[in-house]
Amino acid sequence: MDSGLTAWEKNAQFWDDYMGDESNYFHRDLVRPKVTKLLDIKKGDFVLDIACGNGNYSEYLAQKGAKVVAFDYSEKMIQLAVKRRQAFSDSIEFKVCDATQYDELLKLKRNTLYDKAIANMAIMDIADIRSLFSALNTLLRMDGVFVFVTHHPCFTYPDNDYFTHAIEKGEAIPKQPVLQNYYHRSVQEIFNIAFENGFVIDGFHEVPFEGEKVPIIMIVRLRKNN
Ligand SMILES: C[S@@+](CC[C@H](N)C(=O)[O-])C[C@H]1O[C@@H](n2cnc3c(N)ncnc32)[C@H](O)[C@@H]1O
Repeated sequence: MDSGLTAWEKNAQFWDDYMGDESNYFHRDLVRPKVTKLLDIKKGDFVLDIACGNGNYSEYLAQKGAKVVAFDYSEKMIQLAVKRRQAFSDSIEFKVCDATQYDELLKLKRNTLYDKAIANMAIMDIADIRSLFSALNTLLRMDGVFVFVTHHPCFTYPDNDYFTHAIEKGEAIPKQPVLQNYYHRSVQEIFNIAFENGFVIDGFHEVPFEGEKVPIIMIVRLRKNN
């Protein structure tokens, strides 16, 4: 299966130039406020930033006093993230890792369990999320939280077919060099994978573009309870 990596390697420089130090309106105004509330970062929290892109949220976490391991499967993206977040090299460890590969994910284990994990705008970009949710059960401490933000599947499905898995080509940023893969899966599929891996849901938001009445993203907080 094409994991979409080739497209992200080609788009990495464009993504980093566009998102810059501060990220874009979408991330700052729609994603970040609710994510930040749900994550409730405390000084000293040990946090995993999943599919971190150019590390814009990793930097925010570090500014709040967290210790961060941040990963992405695009080597180019990680090179750019390391360069851009140089000032935070004491607090952020960037790694190349594929979220679909269970064994690679377990190599992100350090000498303490993670308190929190975050995946901003990435679940719909990841070809298979089962390994990720399963590995997170091992990587997070009991009662630890995993917050994820994804396109809202109920309002973004292709071909008038909500329940069937689908891979669509699309763009995250207008005029990006190549189209990327979006992996559609239903809400029940995502939630059931979470439940099967020892998580419960204890926070949920549906966020529209400003002035609109249909959500574009959903933000979910999972808590490890077994
Ligand atoms: C839309 S970007 C979001 C980046 C960042 N989380 C943010 O909010 O700025 C999606 C990211 O997912 C990464 N990605 C996609 N599939 C992945 C996988 N299997 N493992 C790790 N990263 C992946 C891409 O390389 C890209 O950086």
